[in-house]
Amino acid sequence: MGQPQQKITICTSCRHKGSNCRPGYELIAKLRTAIAAAGDSLTDEFEISGVACMAGCDRPCTVAYHGTRKATYLFGDIEADTDIDDLVAFAQQYTSMEDGWCSSVDRPGKLRTSTLARVPAAIIALEDSDVRVS
Ligand code: FES
Repeated sequence: MGQPQQKITICTSCRHKGSNCRPGYELIAKLRTAIAAAGDSLTDEFEISGVACMAGCDRPCTVAYHGTRKATYLFGDIEADTDIDDLVAFAQQYTSMEDGWCSSVDRPGKLRTSTLARVPAAIIALEDSDVRVS
């Protein structure tokens, strides 16, 4: 089995207003557990890790999905207590999409309205016959 080709990155610096808690660490732990419990080989499909800030600081906690040759998403306002099922459902959906591109109405639950950015995949072809813009 090779390296995962997809990543879920969670901000570990986000704080809720007026609080010193850093919910990103709890979110990482809960999401890893839920992804493992979901089966479907999702554990092999994703690397789940943290990063200190993804410039969505006003919408804590932020979570990004990105992958080789796939669109990148940044979600905000994610809560470890209520949004894990939506994150797992989107992981399954993201894995099934060749280019990772989907409309807001097709995303699960809260992820329909909490998208901060959707960025097309950067595909850089090595051969002229494979040049593509997406
Ligand atoms: S502190 Fe979390 S996105 Fe900036």
